[in-house]
Order: sequence, then C-alpha cells, then structure tokens
Amino acid sequence: MAMDARQVIAAILTLSMFAMLGNMIKKDHFDTFQMKFPATSHVQYDTIKIAEKNIIDLPTIRRGPWKNDSEALKPCWNKPALEEREQSTGFITFSFSYGPEYHVSQLADAVVVARYLGATLVLPDISKSERGQKRKFEEIYDAKKCVKNLGSVVRVALDQPSEASTGKLTVVRVPNRVSEEYIAAKIEPVFRTKGNLSLSTYFPSLDMRRAEETKYLDSFACLAMFGTLQLQPELQEVVDSMVGRLRNLSRKSNGQFVAVDLRFKVLERECWRREAKGKKNCYNAEEIGVFLKKIGFDRDTAIYLTQSKWHHSLDALREIFPKTFTKEGIMPAEKKAKFLSSESSEFEKAIDFYICSESDVFVPSISGLFYANVVGKRIASGKSQILVPAQVTVSSTPVSSYISRYISKRNHFAYSCFC
Ligand SMILES: *[C@@H]1O[C@H](CO)[C@@H](O)[C@H](O)[C@H]1NC(C)=O
Ligand SMILES: *[C@@H]1O[C@H](CO)[C@@H](O)[C@H](O)[C@H]1NC(C)=O
Repeated sequence: MAMDARQVIAAILTLSMFAMLGNMIKKDHFDTFQMKFPATSHVQYDTIKIAEKNIIDLPTIRRGPWKNDSEALKPCWNKPALEEREQSTGFITFSFSYGPEYHVSQLADAVVVARYLGATLVLPDISKSERGQKRKFEEIYDAKKCVKNLGSVVRVALDQPSEASTGKLTVVRVPNRVSEEYIAAKIEPVFRTKGNLSLSTYFPSLDMRRAEETKYLDSFACLAMFGTLQLQPELQEVVDSMVGRLRNLSRKSNGQFVAVDLRFKVLERECWRREAKGKKNCYNAEEIGVFLKKIGFDRDTAIYLTQSKWHHSLDALREIFPKTFTKEGIMPAEKKAKFLSSESSEFEKAIDFYICSESDVFVPSISGLFYANVVGKRIASGKSQILVPAQVTVSSTPVSSYISRYISKRNHFAYSCFC
C-alpha cells in the first residue's frame, strides 16, 4: 500500500502532536519546574484492603487517600527583643485588603518595615470590596492576641495617627517580601523626613518559595505570618461549627473531609487567561471530581467548596460526590444573616481560608496566593496532605505524585520558619 507525501506529513504531525500533549500533561502541576518524586510514598492508600477485612463490626470505614496529620512543627524563628533596636517616634500604618491570604503577607511586610525603622505599628483596618469602605480589625481578627503576639518585637498602637483622618499621610509602595536593602534605600529616607508613613504592599510575584539563604528580617516575617493572626471568637466559632458539620457528614470516612478552593468567578476570570499561555493549570468542578475519584476518594467523602453560593457548574462534582457543600449548606442558620449576606464577603473569605487550612485534605483548583498561604498555614500545623489536581491518565500513579511541590520539595517559605 503506497502512501503519498501528504499522508506521511499528516502522520508526522499527528505524532508530534501526541508528543506535545505528553509534555503538556507532564507540566500539569502548578509549579513551573519538574521534579522526581521519591520512591517511597508517605501515603497510606494501600492500607485499605487490610482495614476492610477487620471492618465488619466497626462503625467507620476508612477509604481513600487520607493521611494522618504529622505533629505540628515547632517555630524556630527567634524574637530579638524590642530593646535591641533603637526606637524612633514615627508610626507605620497600612490596611488589610482582599482576603486573609493577602492579609498575612501584608502584615509580614508591615512588621518587617516597622521593626527595621524602630517605628510603632498601627493595627490595620480592613478595606471592604466596596470602594472606600472599611471594617475594623477586630471585626475579623482578635486584636488583643495580635497585640500580645507582636508586642515583643514591635510597638503596636490601636489608633491611626492624626494625619490619617486628614489624608496627609505619605504613602509608600512596598514590594511583598521586602528586603532590608529596599527598606534602607527606598523607605527609610522618606520615613526620616515625613515621620509617619502609610504602606501599600504590592505583589511582584505570588510565589512563596523560600529564598536560598535566611535573612535577619525573616524571623519577623515568620512571626507575623504564622504566630499573630487569629480569628475573633465569634467568627472562629462559626468556622469550628462548620468544620464540625463536615466531620459529622463524613462519618464513613472517619470524620475526615476535603476542602477545595474553587470559586466559579475566579476560574471564569483566570482560567482562559492562563490556558492561553499553553499550560493547563486550573481545574473546574467536574475535572476536580474526576480527579478525586480517580485517586481513590470514596463517593461518601464530604467536600467543602469555597464557592460562595451554589452554582449549576458545580452539579457535575456533586454527582460524583453527593456530600459536596458550599457555605450556605453547613453554616449555622442563625449566623447566616451576619456572615453570609451580600455585605459580608470579607467574612466569607476569612471562613474559606481557615476551613481550607483545617481540612484533612486541601485541593486548590488554581494556583496563586490563596493556595500559597494556605499551604504555609498547613505546614505550620502538620497538615501536609495538599493534592494538586492533574489529568490522571494512569490510574496506578501513586497519590504522592500529586502532593504539592511546596511540600515534597520542602521549598515553601514556611519551612524557614519551622523545624
Ligand atoms: C505622627 O503621628 C503621631 C500620632 O498621631 C503624631 O503625634 C505625630 O505628630 C505625627 N508625626 C508627624 C511628623 O506628623
Ligand atoms: C455532630 O453530630 C452529633 C451527634 O449526632 C451532634 O451531637 C453534634 O451536635 C453534631 N455537631 C455538629 C457541629 O453538627
């Protein structure tokens, strides 16, 4: 059978397309570099069979790639006392904006700058998504604990300096993860002439990989990110009760549940933009469902989604995992008016961040600062089961291949804070 030149070219094109596809699938993971996974897996997904033999009269069944938390790590940052630093009279102010995944980074930068300058840090207010509107710090976080936790390394004030109300405060832009050199060159001179400053953090990168070497200021960033912010008691109670509901619903999986960061609007806005660059790194509800099923989660597993209210695009996931919930399904009814209205997106973001930090398994649908800072909090508390979705082509691929590279390579900034 003779082939003409066109058929040969078509065959070659097809083959090279498959090769390209192969490469794309390999690059599915969020992080940009490739790595080899260790041969030994920490995941106990093959204990299932053994467990099932002895299960007959036990009320719970353990199925799926769960993993017990390791012990919470010990902070190994030092807290050079306040007296070691010459104090000045100025004040540093800033605002929290967007969600808690930004707040931890904004706080870290402000603490680092205030400490370097010997200035007093003013507790931030919280910008609402409506332009110009603010919430008080203590509507979301515990102010007393924050002052107590930071008090050993910077002076903290509760009230804004007088110029803040008249709009005369000088604003300085600060790149996230600001360096000592940058503060000395760009911020200190303005501080010396103006006396009081307002900081505005921007994010040149949303990457939280640790730097090659640890710097003096890292200790303060560690304290700010992992040892300072706690939810105010009422909000913490709502989170605890939602986590309790999820654990109750997941009794057949030993009370363990999966939290998935999946917000329909974010995916709609970000996905096409990122996929246009030729790499698949965001996953919709159906793809997440297929992924979780293929790696072995039982149909009965409870799944929490960060999506605010149910959207029909989530139906496909619920068909695979019927116990899939958004906030409205599990928030105590009497709290909904306050924490689940159109006015309350800051509360909702806080609830999402803390539930994703506490779940047994965390799955991001897209990379970014939410993913990066939830990973940081989970590293601190020993909850390392963070699975990054991929198109599962070979069903025997060990679950450990989907563990976030921040964890498997131990290259997250949090690893320079905890030992
Ligand atoms: C900075 O703020 C403090 C507190 O409101 C105020 O007492 C002080 O005069 C301000 N400094 C300057 C240089 O305006
Ligand atoms: C979980 O279930 C138990 C027993 O059914 C019940 O007493 C408890 O209130 C439930 N907890 C939550 C948070 O729903």
